[in-house]
Amino acid sequence: MRSKSKTIPVLAAAVLLLIVAVFGYVQADDDKKMPVRILFKNNGGKVIFSHLVHHRDYAIDCAKCHHDRESVAVGKDDEALACGSCHPNEFDESYIEGHMDSFPDETYCVRCHHTEYGEVIFDHDAHTDYADDCYDCHHGEEIEPEPQKCANCHKGEDSEDLVSMRVAGHESCRTCHEDMFHQGLSSCKSCHVAVDMTQYEGDYTSCNDCHETETRELVLPRMNAFHDQCMSCHEEMGAGPYGPDNCNQCHISR
Ligand code: HEC
Ligand code: HEC
Ligand code: HEC
Ligand code: HEC
Ligand code: HEC
Ligand code: HEC
Ligand code: HEC
Ligand code: HEC
Ligand code: HEC
Ligand code: HEC
Repeated sequence: MRSKSKTIPVLAAAVLLLIVAVFGYVQADDDKKMPVRILFKNNGGKVIFSHLVHHRDYAIDCAKCHHDRESVAVGKDDEALACGSCHPNEFDESYIEGHMDSFPDETYCVRCHHTEYGEVIFDHDAHTDYADDCYDCHHGEEIEPEPQKCANCHKGEDSEDLVSMRVAGHESCRTCHEDMFHQGLSSCKSCHVAVDMTQYEGDYTSCNDCHETETRELVLPRMNAFHDQCMSCHEEMGAGPYGPDNCNQCHISR
């Protein structure tokens, strides 16, 4: 026969576990309160990060690390995004599909998708005077029986036998305006009017359509985001582990 004295603690423990589980679940999903310490499991060996100690004892503002928040006044009870929602392991297909759901609202999108191009500045009438002939820009009879909109044929993406509208436009304008492309990204505005991003509601253009750099050089991938933030502060303050010989002060097992 089981004694009550054993059942009660077991029951109590079970109830406590349930509360913890439910609470933990709610915590994780609804309002992510400031964790006391964080355990990172990764290929370099586990890292224990004393989150609260860093904030309270080393007197570091939340916003110093959580630069996802515009407002500097982040309090102990405020939410913060996981670093990985912006700094993933890979900028692959699953990131592209998944990352849009990682943010509480659209104001976050603009942080990275910082510009889109609207109208192109092009005065057709004036240009018919600048050129000798319509066919300086329009294809001849064989392809374009009548001069018409380029976009009737050239589309958003390159296809097997047709360059994209972007390449078609650029190549064609370049024949006279090579100089307009000389100053890298800052030259784009001589033809492109930038859209006011606070009003923007369309699809976002891929970073690489404008930047020739790899995406990962524009937004750091996960490991670099942690290494750079943790270590550059330690180095700056001359306290806490950084540098090539101190891996084991953060990574406790391999
Ligand atoms: C020294 C840097 C640092 C400071 C200061 C700091 N945090 Fe963090 N915080 C982190 C890191 C790193 C994580 C881990 C995020 C992850 O797992 O991607 C984190 C995680 C969190 C999380 C959980 C986010 C999640 O979804 O995983 C919350 C909430 C949070 N911090 C809130 C705060 C608040 C509020 C403050 C100020 C009172 C603060 N933090 C101060 C670095 C810091
Ligand atoms: C809402 C998205 C977002 C979140 C969440 C986020 N970052 Fe970033 N982070 C960026 C963007 C965008 C850049 C590059 C441009 C910039 O600095 O604004 C960046 C740049 C960085 C840099 C480069 C240097 C610097 O400070 O500008 C480091 C390091 C970094 N993040 C670490 C972290 C860490 C660690 C966390 C979690 C505590 C974190 N980030 C959370 C978006 C985010
Ligand atoms: C400097 C290059 C250039 C020259 C020269 C030029 N065009 Fe165009 N034309 C374009 C471009 C680029 C477009 C596409 C504009 C757009 O899609 O908004 C276009 C569009 C057109 C269209 C379609 C307009 C519409 O809204 O449907 C017609 C028709 C046209 N051109 C006729 C001509 C004729 C006729 C000449 C000669 C008198 C000429 N073009 C000379 C570049 C040129
Ligand atoms: C009726 C369809 C059609 C229209 C309209 C059209 N294109 Fe094209 N374009 C083509 C085809 C087909 C090719 C491929 C030709 C080839 O490979 O020789 C091409 C190729 C090009 C190329 C790359 C090859 C080259 O000749 O240098 C450029 C640049 C270009 N088009 C610009 C334009 C511009 C600018 C306009 C509008 C003013 C325009 N196209 C309108 C069908 C069209
Ligand atoms: C046949 C040569 C030629 C082509 C092709 C050409 N342009 Fe021009 N463009 C000119 C000339 C000439 C001027 C006037 C002188 C100047 O400002 O350089 C001019 C001026 C301009 C200006 C400045 C107008 C202003 O008000 O300052 C813009 C913007 C422009 N072009 C855009 C374009 C775009 C976009 C294309 C491609 C669709 C294009 N051009 C293709 C010859 C050309
Ligand atoms: C001389 C004028 C000119 C300059 C300079 C120029 N562009 Fe363009 N761009 C065009 C034209 C014309 C088009 C085709 C317009 C269209 O899609 O109707 C175009 C199209 C594009 C597109 C595709 C837009 C779409 O809706 O498909 C992108 C992206 C783009 N340009 C980026 C850039 C970047 C980045 C720079 C600077 C490095 C730049 N452009 C400089 C004239 C220019
Ligand atoms: C931390 C930076 C960051 C934030 C914040 C962000 N994105 Fe992105 N987004 C990217 C990167 C990086 C890519 C993929 C690489 C590329 O486009 O070259 C991407 C790709 C996309 C694409 C696909 C573009 C294409 O055609 O290639 C869409 C759509 C998109 N994001 C929408 C959103 C929306 C909606 C939000 C806000 C809810 C958002 N993004 C927030 C960085 C970000
Ligand atoms: C429509 C074109 C366009 C798109 C799309 C675009 N950018 Fe940019 N980006 C620019 C221009 C233009 C500048 C400013 C260059 C200047 O003024 O010198 C810039 C500047 C930047 C800078 C500052 C450093 C630098 O390289 O000059 C960063 C970081 C950046 N963009 C990240 C991104 C990321 C991440 C994405 C995708 C989520 C993205 N951009 C999408 C056009 C674009
Ligand atoms: C804004 C500055 C700053 C950032 C960012 C930061 N630290 Fe620190 N860290 C400190 C300071 C200050 C100390 C105090 C060292 C002392 O007092 O000896 C410290 C100490 C440490 C220590 C040793 C003592 C302890 O508290 O455990 C470890 C381990 C550590 N940090 C890990 C991390 C990790 C992991 C990250 C990134 C997720 C990080 N730190 C980000 C400032 C920072
Ligand atoms: C200040 C603390 C700190 C120091 C010092 C440090 N790391 Fe890390 N490291 C981290 C954190 C935090 C992560 C991210 C954990 C995560 O992805 O969840 C990480 C991630 C890693 C990863 C995982 C990459 C992956 O894809 O999973 C490797 C490998 C790594 N570090 C190696 C090193 C090496 C080698 C050194 C010494 C040169 C070093 N780390 C120094 C904190 C540190």
